[in-house]
Amino acid sequence: MPVITCIEDLKRLHKKRTPKMFYDYAESGSYTEQTFRENTSDFAQIRINQRVAVDMTGRSTGTKMLGQDVSLPVALAPVGLTGMQRADGEIKAARAAAKFGVPYTLSTMSICSIEDVADNTDAPFWFQIYTLTDDDYNTRVLQRARAAGCSALVITVDLQLLGQRHKDLKNGLTAPPKFTVPVMLDLATKWRWGLEMLGTKRRFFGNIVGHVDSAADPSSLASWTAEKFDQSLNWDRIRRLMDMWGGKVILKGILHPEDAERAAAAGADAIVVSNHGGRQLDGALSSIRVLPSIVDAVGDKTEVWLDSGIRSGQDILKAMALGAKGTMIGRAYVNGLGAMGEAGVTKALEVLQKELDTSMALCGEKSVQNLHRGNVLVPKGFLDTYT
Ligand code: FNR
Repeated sequence: MPVITCIEDLKRLHKKRTPKMFYDYAESGSYTEQTFRENTSDFAQIRINQRVAVDMTGRSTGTKMLGQDVSLPVALAPVGLTGMQRADGEIKAARAAAKFGVPYTLSTMSICSIEDVADNTDAPFWFQIYTLTDDDYNTRVLQRARAAGCSALVITVDLQLLGQRHKDLKNGLTAPPKFTVPVMLDLATKWRWGLEMLGTKRRFFGNIVGHVDSAADPSSLASWTAEKFDQSLNWDRIRRLMDMWGGKVILKGILHPEDAERAAAAGADAIVVSNHGGRQLDGALSSIRVLPSIVDAVGDKTEVWLDSGIRSGQDILKAMALGAKGTMIGRAYVNGLGAMGEAGVTKALEVLQKELDTSMALCGEKSVQNLHRGNVLVPKGFLDTYT
C-alpha cells in the first residue's frame, strides 16, 4: 500500500483504479477549464502569516456549521454519480463523514437513493436538490428527504442547465457505462472497481429511476439534464421550495454580493460561495477571490461558507481567514473514495485536518474559530483586479 501524505496522492490512486469515464467526470471543468484551474491557482497566490513563540497547546479544529458541532470546518459537498467512483460510494462517503464528525450531503444525482443512504448510516445527512420541471417530483423528493431524517436541504442555485464538459461528451459518460470497445478495454485494467460493482445492485440514478415519469434515458446525464432540469428556477421558486421544506436551508452556488443579499433576505441559514468547482460558468472568478466581498455584504446575516478549489488544510485556513465560517469539499473526498473507498474518504479528512491543525499552530492560532484576516497575506489587487 503506497504511503498517502496528501490529497494529490489520493488523486493519483483514484485515476489508477477508476474507469476513465468517471475519473474524467470528476477531474474536469467546463469549456476551457479556466475557472476550474484558477480555483486552485488563486488559493496558491494567498500566503500565510507565520507567528512564533505562541503557546500552541490545546488546539482545536472543531467549530459549528448550521449550529451542528463539526470536528473540522468541512462538509462533504453533493457530488453526482459518487456511486460510480466506487460501488455504493454515497453510503461509504456518508459513513466516513459521520465517523469523522462532519456533515455529508447527498446529491439528487446520486446512485444510492436517499432511502439507501438512510438505511445504511446512523447519522442524519443533508440532501441537495436540483429542481426538475416536474413539480410533483420536487414535492415527493422533499417528502422522501424529510422521511429519511435529512437535517438540512441544500438548494443548488447555479445549475438550471449544464456547463459543457468536453471529456464527458467524448467519453460518452453514462451511468452505468455502456459496454463499448474502449470502455471494455479500460475496464480490463480496473478489475477491483468491476468486482465491487458486480456485487451491488446500485448502478442507476437511485433518486431518479422509478421516481420520474419520462421517456428520456436518465443514464445519459447531459441530455437528461437538458430536458428535465427546471430552467425557470428564480427567487420566488426558491422561496417556495424553502417554505415547502420548512427546515434548515443552505443555498449553494452564490458568486455575487447582490445574489448573496437576496439569499440572506430569503432566509437562507447558510450560503455557499461556489462556482460549482469550475463546472458551470467558465470565466467566472474563483470562489476564494469573491469570498471577502460576499462576507462584507452578508456575513452578519447568514453563515457564509466556501467551496471550489480546496485541496489542503492550508486552503481551508485561507478561506476561514478571509471570513468563511465553513467549507465544502468535492474532489478532495472523491479522490479518496476512488482511491480506497470508505477508508480513502477518512484518509482525505485526516490529511486535511492534520494540515489545517499544523498550519494553524504555526500561525500562532489555537482554534479555527479565531482565524482572521491577519493570518493571511493577499497580493495587492488580488481582490479588486476586475471591475
Ligand atoms: C459536483 N458538484 C455538484 N453540486 C451539486 O450541487 N450537485 C451535484 O450533483 C454535483 N455534482 C458534482 C459532481 C462532481 C464530479 C463534482 C466534482 C462536483 C459540485 C460540488 O458540490 C462542489 O461545489 C464542488 O465539487 C466544489 O469544488 P471542488 O472541491 O471539487 O474543487
